[in-house]
Amino acid sequence: SAAEKGGYDYFMLKEIAEQPKAVADTLLGRIDPSGSLTLDEVRISPSELREIDKVVIVACGTAFHAGLIAKYAIEHWTRIPCEVELASEFRYRDPILDGRSLVIAISQSGETMDTLMALRHAREQGSKVLAICNTNGSTIPRESDAVLYTHAGPEVAVASTKAFLTQLVACYLVALYLGQVRGTKWGDEIQAVIKDLSRISEEVERVLETMEPVRALARTLAAKNTVLFLGRHVGYPVALEGALKLKELAYMHAEGFAAGELKHGPIALIEEDVPVVVVVPSPRGRSVLHDKIVSNIQEIRARGARTIVIAEEGDEAVVPYADHLIRIPATPTLLQPLVATVPLQVFACELATARGNEVDQPRNLAKSVTVE
Ligand code: AGP
Repeated sequence: SAAEKGGYDYFMLKEIAEQPKAVADTLLGRIDPSGSLTLDEVRISPSELREIDKVVIVACGTAFHAGLIAKYAIEHWTRIPCEVELASEFRYRDPILDGRSLVIAISQSGETMDTLMALRHAREQGSKVLAICNTNGSTIPRESDAVLYTHAGPEVAVASTKAFLTQLVACYLVALYLGQVRGTKWGDEIQAVIKDLSRISEEVERVLETMEPVRALARTLAAKNTVLFLGRHVGYPVALEGALKLKELAYMHAEGFAAGELKHGPIALIEEDVPVVVVVPSPRGRSVLHDKIVSNIQEIRARGARTIVIAEEGDEAVVPYADHLIRIPATPTLLQPLVATVPLQVFACELATARGNEVDQPRNLAKSVTVE
């Protein structure tokens, strides 16, 4: 009913709008004022966590994209090797696991069969399993050694939005917690990240306030067949997520690429007026990546692409090559997915509407996939 949708036409719109609160709620009570993390819920003891020599993340779909981003954070902040694998592939390839592996299963519903089977396999090998889940008491957390709940509230639309942002927050918390427990050198960078993380829900809110031009742009693309997405570093999984949203909702051919791979094949897809969304890393910090992606934008534009550039405020280098420029607040690179994904959700939702598709219930899809 309209009341259930809180005045929005679709649950998806409501859930996109709820993201600042979902993010804040997932952080609530987990970072103390001194900047240290309290994750009592993670009932794997600090001494066990100190023994971990490998992290393996298993998930499907959007949750898998959260896992891909988590890998950058976990390896950078903790120096523990981290693999990410599609849950449906995991147990069939005889993965190397033992009691020193920490397996993280990410699932909004907690009922995804592929993810459940992957975690059962991991536990049979003696690994500890930590679930990141949005649904209290669901099967995946019940069968795990520990659970860190995301506090997104119920997600009704089939296309995952607020659950994804809170999965990212949970992954950052786990990464920072592992660093804290293991005594990773707690440098200024980590302190700054914790501070930025505790303020990030306001930045998500600011992004939401500036989405009208994104909607207008989406409507002009309703008759297109293809949209491509490019990113680097954590922007690469963001590109994959943007493409997945568009497939699910707009039923368009959408593909995400690592920008560095362009020259190894995908650049052949670039032709006159094909829309290419590019997620640009911050020019601060890892500026090498930034400069490389700016030259990618130049290259594809020279070949006729219509460039839709998502770049942080103050990044002037992209301006000459952007047919459409979407601004996001400046954040540390690793946290950028929390703000960069939002315009892609809005874009896909509006394109779906413009194409006359059912936003909350896309064809052929179920909210939770309880079969293998
Ligand atoms: C996302 O928009 C999808 N509908 C889908 O990829 C989903 O993320 C995936 O099926 C995993 O679901 P889960 O998080 O409930 O395990």
